[in-house]
Amino acid sequence: MAIISSKKQPPEPNGQPKQRREVAKVPPKENLLQPEAAVDEGKQEESIRPQRFADYIGQKDLKDVLEIAIKAAKSRGEVLDHLLLYGPPGLGKTTMAMILASEMGVNCKITSAPALERPRDIVGLLVNLKPGDVLFIDEIHRLSRMSEEILYPAMEDYRLDITIGKGSSAKTRSIPLSKYTLVGATTRVGALTSPLRDRFGLIQKLRFYEVDELSKIVLRSAQLLQTAITEDGAAEIARRARGTPRIANRLLKRVRDYAQVKLSGEINEKVAAEALQLFQVDPCGLDWTDRRMLSVIIENFNGGPVGLETIAAATGEDTQTIEEVYEPYLMQIGYLSRTTRGRVATPAAYKHLGFKPPNEQLSLLP
Ligand SMILES: Nc1ncnc2c1ncn2[C@@H]1O[C@H](COP(=O)(O)OP(=O)(O)O)[C@@H](O)[C@H]1O
Ligand SMILES: [Mg+2]
Repeated sequence: MAIISSKKQPPEPNGQPKQRREVAKVPPKENLLQPEAAVDEGKQEESIRPQRFADYIGQKDLKDVLEIAIKAAKSRGEVLDHLLLYGPPGLGKTTMAMILASEMGVNCKITSAPALERPRDIVGLLVNLKPGDVLFIDEIHRLSRMSEEILYPAMEDYRLDITIGKGSSAKTRSIPLSKYTLVGATTRVGALTSPLRDRFGLIQKLRFYEVDELSKIVLRSAQLLQTAITEDGAAEIARRARGTPRIANRLLKRVRDYAQVKLSGEINEKVAAEALQLFQVDPCGLDWTDRRMLSVIIENFNGGPVGLETIAAATGEDTQTIEEVYEPYLMQIGYLSRTTRGRVATPAAYKHLGFKPPNEQLSLLP
């Protein structure tokens, strides 16, 4: 297992802890490992975003469920059930919504909840839908209450209920809508109100990708970017991409730049590792916040359990982001466990950060 250390250290013969890397108190300016798209990244992403089911790698369970739903809807000549996709950022929710529309042969209207602040925004979208259209609402947990209430009958009965006038003279009018499919995406499924959640016929979770799946994604993207890369090179990038296609693609682009400037050949394992080390991307994809979280738990709290609030204060992240973005990945790779009393760093986390795991310390006692 590679160890993150600014200097190369020879292995210690007498089982002493390996050199630890200090985790800086402030995060670096650029974060290649953030799972959200950077401001200028959206356009670049479009060129490599898969357009068909066949190009959407991994997420087998999700694909199986949706393929059946699509086939059934098509054979009955009906629209697809409303679908809620949830999971950490960068795992392919928006991509899947667009693929669904193209597989069904319909239009996809894309919006996000913060853009639907006023009721008239969502009304405008709904009345303009054509039969079968997909309406994609990103960050759907952030819908305003008024917009959400407009959605209830619009989802359930394809109907808009509009109140005209105020007080005792107010009248409600119903406007029929085309049958359409709402696809909602969220990183925080728990923040959805239950009336909204209950109106989705399909609720599907996206999971982190395995290294071999991410390798395939990197190989595919490299081909689209006309960049030569070996399988080893793709795997090296995949290992550091924290289970997230968006990060894998971003790292690929940075490694490509490095390879172009430094050498002219293809990206292989060595070049990828060199480049990513230069960009300070951890061999397992941990970023500053992950390392800070773990090192606080280990150094200040003896490995835990530590409460979420404490971790939030130490990292400057809000508790929600920690729960929804950082912890899922750390738990996935087995570095953190969540107990009722708080978060605990695992022996693997100790080792990765160059600390001696607690049970080994015990076994050294006389
Ligand atoms: N299953 C996948 N196969 C190939 N590429 C993917 C897959 N999922 C996501 N991507 C890539 O990752 C990027 C981010 O995906 P996106 O759907 O925008 O994530 P989310 O909406 O969940 O934040 C996309 O531009 C796409 O190129
Ligand atoms: Mg998205």
